[in-house]
Amino acid sequence: MLSAQSVPVVRATLPAVGASLTTITERFYQRMFEERPDLLRNLFNRTNQVTGSQREALAGAVAGFATLLVERPDERPDAILSRIAHKHVSLGITSDMYPLVGRHLLGAVAEILGDAVTPEVAAAWDEVYWLMANALIATEARLYAASGVDNGDVWRQMVVTERRQESADAVSLVLSRPDGRPTAPFRPGQYVSVRAQLPDGAHQIRQYSLSTAPGRESWRITVKRERGADGSVPDGEVSSWLHAHAKEGDVLDVSLPAGDLVLPDADTPIVLASAGIGITPMLSMLDHLTLTSSARPVTVIHADRNPLDHVHRAEQAALVSRLSGADLHLWYENDAHHVPGTHVRAGRATLDHLDLDPTATAYLCGPLPFMRAVRGQLLAKGVHPSAVHYEVFGPDLWLSK
Ligand SMILES: Cc1cc2nc3c(=O)[nH]c(=O)nc-3n(C[C@H](O)[C@H](O)[C@H](O)COP(=O)(O)OP(=O)(O)OC[C@H]3O[C@@H](n4cnc5c(N)ncnc54)[C@H](O)[C@@H]3O)c2cc1C
Ligand code: HEM
Repeated sequence: MLSAQSVPVVRATLPAVGASLTTITERFYQRMFEERPDLLRNLFNRTNQVTGSQREALAGAVAGFATLLVERPDERPDAILSRIAHKHVSLGITSDMYPLVGRHLLGAVAEILGDAVTPEVAAAWDEVYWLMANALIATEARLYAASGVDNGDVWRQMVVTERRQESADAVSLVLSRPDGRPTAPFRPGQYVSVRAQLPDGAHQIRQYSLSTAPGRESWRITVKRERGADGSVPDGEVSSWLHAHAKEGDVLDVSLPAGDLVLPDADTPIVLASAGIGITPMLSMLDHLTLTSSARPVTVIHADRNPLDHVHRAEQAALVSRLSGADLHLWYENDAHHVPGTHVRAGRATLDHLDLDPTATAYLCGPLPFMRAVRGQLLAKGVHPSAVHYEVFGPDLWLSK
């Protein structure tokens, strides 16, 4: 909880700080990477730094947290930090890194806002930072403890035991422990981080959802190659590297699983809505439901450009057919190819014709416009906003855009 003396100061300065937050977070990263260029090379996603998406995600999180602190001073706004904590844990972030970030973030606030940052204002925002930092540190410590590892000790070597081309642009990698022992447990919907050493020597880290159920001997990730648009934008660094280099027998640096979009065991109705490569966490959930012989009502919605781009199409249909309570609804933007036993439609996904149970819990994964549209339609059908969960395959800009 923010101290009584800081509440009015943060409330009074929130509009000014909020209006400059993207500039502040931009300056924050510049300052921090001037001091620690190794962090940009080997820990942060350097493409997100070029495109600016990470500073927007950070600005959105700080603004959201500070707003909650002043508007609902009696609540702990830790829930909005859950996604960040899981991401940090998948990167092995530790508590000793927080003073560096705090120093540069608050230094950037002072630089950008100048004389407006009196000692009183600086102290109040320092308090906001440390409330966030301590909440993150505590959640991250709990997550490390739940995985039975020391703080930050998440990196393991995994062997690629199978590589399968799923479509022109997607490849699956089956990952096993080098000692042949069972892989670490996880919850359906979670992801791992993969750390690749790129040709210039930098280590770049990206997240990939586990696309089969927990409890299987191996993990599987499915990686879509991100191609740069019209030749002027570079191809995605890690996905291209994995497509070009990862082969059977290779050893990859892979983190322990993390992620807060998970499917709790229950018998209530669910909606799984994905688009494109967003199918991966949904496959893990479906595989888990079949392995546990679940009879819960499951509405599976998937949208793709065309059947050839729809990765794991046959596997998804087979999993749904093994679930007594599940229905599959497909949309192809370019080609409504008929798949027996499924409802295939042309165009963009809509829930108009679906008879949905308003008590359903929904899990969404795909591009933001797809998820926004589906969420709006779910709410229009009576699904409660708190029952709609989502995963973004990048920094979470849902709240900041
Ligand atoms: C929780 C989570 C789960 C995920 N699960 C999966 C999964 O199951 N499968 C999967 O394939 N992906 C998944 N992702 C996405 C994955 O982590 C990577 O973001 C993705 O592989 C792209 O990484 P990259 O290094 O290839 O591209 P990056 O180098 O990070 O580039 C990203 C995009 O930006 C473009 N770009 C590069 N430079 C510029 C520039 N200057 N201006 C504008 N654009 C530029 C690239 O062409 C590319 O399209 C997941 C992400 C998260 C956060
Ligand atoms: C209060 C302090 C912090 C806040 C509010 C914060 C906030 C965030 C946010 C919002 C994201 C994006 C999450 C997402 O949507 O996926 C993120 C990711 C990340 N954070 Fe933090 N963070 C903090 C501290 C730290 C520290 C101490 C480090 C270590 C140096 C760190 C390293 C990272 C990295 C490497 C990523 C992934 C970036 C990327 O992939 O581009 N963070 N953080």
